[in-house]
Amino acid sequence: MNVRDSEHMIAELNKKESYELTQNVEDADLIIINTCSVREKPVSKLFSEIGQFKKVKKEGAKIGVAGCTASHLGKEIIKRAPVVDFVIGARNVSKITEVVNKKGAVEIDTNYDESTYMFGEYRSNPYKAMVNISIGCDKSCTFCIVPVTRGEEISIPSNLIIKEVQKAVDSGAKEITLLGQNVNNYGRRFSNNTSGAKNFTQLLREVSQVDGLERIRFSSPHPLHMDDEFLEEFAKNPKICKQIHVPLQSGSTNLLKSMKRGYTKEWFLNRCAKIRELTPNVAISTDIIVGFPGESQEDFNETLDVLEKVKFDALFSFKYSPRPHTEAQHFENQVESDVASKRLQKLQARHKEIQKEIMDAQVGTRVEVLFEELKSDGKVAGRSDEGRLVMVEGSEELLGKILPVDIKSANITVLHGVVTE
Ligand code: 5AD
Ligand code: SF4
Repeated sequence: MNVRDSEHMIAELNKKESYELTQNVEDADLIIINTCSVREKPVSKLFSEIGQFKKVKKEGAKIGVAGCTASHLGKEIIKRAPVVDFVIGARNVSKITEVVNKKGAVEIDTNYDESTYMFGEYRSNPYKAMVNISIGCDKSCTFCIVPVTRGEEISIPSNLIIKEVQKAVDSGAKEITLLGQNVNNYGRRFSNNTSGAKNFTQLLREVSQVDGLERIRFSSPHPLHMDDEFLEEFAKNPKICKQIHVPLQSGSTNLLKSMKRGYTKEWFLNRCAKIRELTPNVAISTDIIVGFPGESQEDFNETLDVLEKVKFDALFSFKYSPRPHTEAQHFENQVESDVASKRLQKLQARHKEIQKEIMDAQVGTRVEVLFEELKSDGKVAGRSDEGRLVMVEGSEELLGKILPVDIKSANITVLHGVVTE
């Protein structure tokens, strides 16, 4: 979501002002730091980064802070770091061309509605585009700061989404990633009347009819909203890539309850089993938090049990980090830091073994790869339908093409293969 917000700001600054991207910070007239606030660490890095930029920036260059930390710290940022010229929240990116010319501007209103706003065009990858389908999040997971920083959930009317997808395809995109904080809850609330898709499954059907579009991905879905109809569409629609993120957070039903996730361990396992039943070659990834307040050894064992049962392709795992404006920061029984660290290590070590088995099993298979990047060593990199990184020997002629590849060898993160035909 932040990458897409950055693209939007770049597009707006390019369309309405005369800014262009530079690779050289010393040349920049404007430096924008787009921030995350989901865990404490990136927030604490912000002020040291501002200090670094202050040292290297050219005289008169402006510094802006954008994103979720901007939303939740607001004018505090300028107070602590007066070198900062403006602050712009994650929900307010369309105002970038206003704040950039207003010293001391702070735009962080989370009621601001960008759901019908059309941004200028910019994307970092010519073959892949991201398209927002909703903004904000209406859940209240007790560990999560996002509903405070990104505001209430509003879905973008599907005719606007289709227009964006068509525009991206017309300018060369083969693959679209539909974006929302809670992407498969699409249709919960629209800011105005819309005659198009009313839920995520309908939207997937509409998007897949866009001529010239070859691949659809989406990020990030919630396990609670994975009904059978959606999983059937996921399985049978050939344009939808067979990769799905199913964020677990914890394998313990008790902890899921105090996290207010809305599902049980059994529901989660049932959904993953259904996904595998309908889509046998699917790659499933997940997010797990360890050391959530009250997590006992038994609770953690339940998480390990889910790891064994589902065998995730990719795991994003985090030590719980208490966040302002969240319920869980006030919970008793905060888990000791070194206990949480040990659990995290154990989880990650076991996942690595599983991941190695999964990657080794890819050797000898044939996968469809969209080639997207030329490497310096004569290799071309791309992603398989299931989202795995694949490298082949080749030249720029491969770029932007989707071709079958026979996998010859694997390591834990990369598959190496040969283009067939
Ligand atoms: N502490 C640790 N991890 C968190 N996440 C969200 N909030 C926190 C927190 N307070 C993780 C969740 C989420 C991912 C994007 O970040 O796993 O799915
Ligand atoms: Fe945060 Fe939960 Fe919303 Fe995801 S669904 S953004 S974890 S509150």
